[in-house]
Amino acid sequence: MVCRRLLRNGNRGMHLRYLEIKGGKKLDGDIRVQGSKNAVLPILTSCILGGGVCRIGNCPRISDVEVTLGILKAVGCKVIQEKHTVCVDATDVSVCEIPASEASRTRSSVLFLGALIGRCRKAVLPVPGGCAIGARPVDLHRKALEKLGVTFSGQESMTADGSGLSGAVIHLSFPSVGATENSILAAVLAPGTTVIEQAAQEPEIDELIHFLNLRGARIRRKKDGSIWIEGVKELYPVKYTMQADRIVVGTYLLGAVSAGGRVRVLNYPKHGLELPMELFREMGAVVRMEEESCELKCSGRPKALSYLETAPYPGFPTDLQSLFTAVLACADGRSRIRETIFENRFQMVQELKRMGAQIEVYGNTAWIQGIPRLQGAEVSATDLRSGAGLVLAGLGASDVTRVRNVEYIERGYEDICRDFGRLGADIQMCQ
Ligand code: EPZ
Repeated sequence: MVCRRLLRNGNRGMHLRYLEIKGGKKLDGDIRVQGSKNAVLPILTSCILGGGVCRIGNCPRISDVEVTLGILKAVGCKVIQEKHTVCVDATDVSVCEIPASEASRTRSSVLFLGALIGRCRKAVLPVPGGCAIGARPVDLHRKALEKLGVTFSGQESMTADGSGLSGAVIHLSFPSVGATENSILAAVLAPGTTVIEQAAQEPEIDELIHFLNLRGARIRRKKDGSIWIEGVKELYPVKYTMQADRIVVGTYLLGAVSAGGRVRVLNYPKHGLELPMELFREMGAVVRMEEESCELKCSGRPKALSYLETAPYPGFPTDLQSLFTAVLACADGRSRIRETIFENRFQMVQELKRMGAQIEVYGNTAWIQGIPRLQGAEVSATDLRSGAGLVLAGLGASDVTRVRNVEYIERGYEDICRDFGRLGADIQMCQ
């Protein structure tokens, strides 16, 4: 249901979309979660690496995917999207330059560097924009690709010459997810062997590796976490169905912690939420795992978490930090969260304080004094996960919470309003 409201000051005029949440309703429901945003973006980009039609199932309908599909078309791919299935025919990739208008709309456009170098041995890409959560430089990407023989020129944009592409040993100074993915995309078709040391361990990387191996690539993750790639001559088209999005799963389960009640995720992903599951239990939730599903029940105030620190996988995922911060604002006790991945990922705290939260941020650490309940308020999302965190806060708050800048949330959540509505929340999109 969509409600129509005048802007606060009564002026008719431009309607700004926002989510309106009447807090205090317990959740109770089962849900099947969308495909993984952070796996599907590199997998769609990797379609460039070979001709023929790749068919991707359980592809989430989110704006970051729309942007990626737009870039695939801009370089010459034929793209058909029907509901949650996307078909990409990369037979005629003819353009190796990514339009700045598209590239600046999503950070993951940087992955087209590795894919275009892998396919065409050249690429021109505007330097991707940073975003609210941090500067997000691409120095690790460039250093890794330079190890593979790629040379760069240009300031405003990155012009990459991959004519000398060849396998090499890459040592990442930090296990960057994107730099690991870019290295894989550039190395799959490069002559020789590539080793990526201190590669990122996130499950989304292994889903990309699995997809590429189905296409004929020869990629192995060794016990020490390094990734070994034997360059091959070509890749073949395949049909593939995406795993569920582990961050969206964590978000919906946390909904039952924030509002109380029960949520069962029917397509629980095999890997990626091991540590968050332990934290849910520490907060007092009852978690029941079955073959393919996970059910979380929670009643009363969650317990505080004395100390939590984000870290590369298998550590606590930075993408759940905002969501835990929002829920711990009403925990019974004091919690402390240290954000070690992005330098600016506590922007949501100011919005939570408008709801009465008692949180102070010093440097990269948030000190949270839990209160019995937040008060509904008008708040604004500042990035994708902070927007989802504010929705969680609204679910448990008293009165009405309105969350603006829903476009941020739609980058990664197919329809958070529909999904929480199905789980029993009183939530609607208004404009
Ligand atoms: C991916 O971003 C995810 N995005 C992010 O999810 C996620 O938070 C992040 O990995 C960490 O897990 C996608 O997969 C599309 P990084 P990415 O390279 O690849 C610094 C979400 O909410 N760094 O691992 O950009 C960087 O500034 C999004 O779904 C460099 O300094 O993350 C950051 O501090 C947000 N130089 C840290 O490393 C580089 O060249 C981690 O970045 C690259 C990164």
